[in-house]
Amino acid sequence: EERTFVAIKPDGVQRKLIGEIVARFEKKGLKLVGCKLIQPSRKLAEKHYAEHKGKPFYEGLLDFITSGPVFAMVWEGKEVVSTSRSLIGLTDPKKSPMNTIRGDFGIDVGRNTIHGSDSVESAQREIKLWFSKNELITSSITIEKWINED
Ligand code: GTP
Ligand code: MG
Repeated sequence: EERTFVAIKPDGVQRKLIGEIVARFEKKGLKLVGCKLIQPSRKLAEKHYAEHKGKPFYEGLLDFITSGPVFAMVWEGKEVVSTSRSLIGLTDPKKSPMNTIRGDFGIDVGRNTIHGSDSVESAQREIKLWFSKNELITSSITIEKWINED
């Protein structure tokens, strides 16, 4: 089944939004297969955001993401990558519609509360980067039949 990497950034953790955000993913019918509170090293942050190297906001982004604990998660479900991006909303919270996480909780693009992988390939790369295999559950909580018809 498809998996994605989601992380509540330091602003979201400091603002005590973990519970509210996890609740939205759970209520959507997605399945949590791993999570941890971790303050990422510079090296991990550089690898995670490698695609943005050289952009004007890159150094600030690394400073910010390494500035405090991040709540890292792996979620599983049907089309979970795109479903998660829909729950999260647009990159800029000001442009993100209400009822999305960024639309509801953020103002600044540099403080947009949460990260979600942008493709299945990114998800696989990011999950490997942030989690070891033994941190992810394999035994399943079978909510599947209550969410998907087949
Ligand atoms: P992520 O889920 O965090 O990867 O966000 P995204 O996929 O919606 O956006 P993108 O990958 O393009 O950018 C990564 C992160 O860099 C964003 O979440 C922002 O926090 C930050 N960022 C992107 N564009 C800007 C910008 O123009 N200015 C600033 N200050 N930050 C930006
Ligand atoms: Mg991105």
